[in-house]
Amino acid sequence: MPTLAVTIAEVRAAIAAAKEDARDRGVAEPLVALVPTMGALHRGHLALVERAQQLADVVVVSVFVNPLQFSEAEDLERYPRDLETDLATLETVDRPGSTSIVFAPSAAEMYPDGKTQTKVSAGAIGNSLEGRSRAGHFDGVLVVVDKLLNIVQPDSVLFGQKDAQQVFVVSRMVRDLNIPVTVEVVETVREDDGLALSSRNRFLDERERLAARVLSRTLEAAESAAVSGIDAVIAAAQSAGMGEPLVSLEYLSVVNPATFLPVDDGYHGRAIVLVAARVGNTRLIDNEAVYLGG
Ligand code: PAF
Repeated sequence: MPTLAVTIAEVRAAIAAAKEDARDRGVAEPLVALVPTMGALHRGHLALVERAQQLADVVVVSVFVNPLQFSEAEDLERYPRDLETDLATLETVDRPGSTSIVFAPSAAEMYPDGKTQTKVSAGAIGNSLEGRSRAGHFDGVLVVVDKLLNIVQPDSVLFGQKDAQQVFVVSRMVRDLNIPVTVEVVETVREDDGLALSSRNRFLDERERLAARVLSRTLEAAESAAVSGIDAVIAAAQSAGMGEPLVSLEYLSVVNPATFLPVDDGYHGRAIVLVAARVGNTRLIDNEAVYLGG
């Protein structure tokens, strides 16, 4: 059963106690891993927790719907919240020898003065792709991740590859600000038909759920065409994504993983194909790493 902490003081005390326990079990230098989440946990999150258990003796899962990363247009209130179910879900991966702590603070605990006056900026990349339709989203993500890293002081922090742009901006913040933590990225977990797991999938009705397969099909088509270069990738992805009336494509982009900028014509090498689409009223994203040009 994970230990539940709702204040910063409680989570720090729980981490200190868990490290002490680990030392009593003979672990000289217990390691801590942090899995930041907004709750509504699914198998994708559990894959992060399982990887964290391999890396550390103490695993802290934060469950906090961060108001700073929701733009006005988005419905912060609509985001699913069910801590009881999240705790039960986490219990299914509880493992002897690894202590898990759930940190589920209130907004008042995290932001006692309301929106922080101190900002962490994701820079220009924060306004592209996901940032274009979600103004201030990545700055809000960076503030909360920075705070969580300061509160928990983990040795490693884990994120899912599904949020590739988030992984990019967080990794860059860690590098730019010399934060002493290792960023671990875990592969996207998918349903059998390819749909990437997401807390938002629960908003899809039956027809939308079927239509949502078009995102992973688009990426599969892009991957198959990668050997022929960027133009072929875009053409293949666009034709795979067409003809699904419930889906409206928001962007399809191919970026250099080192810069997150779109690749030029004639680029050869590693790239990430990113797709965002609205399926009914639900916005979904997905991505696939490819090697352009064979
Ligand atoms: O990926 C998420 O769920 C959130 O953006 C994160 C990293 C927990 C920050 O609120």
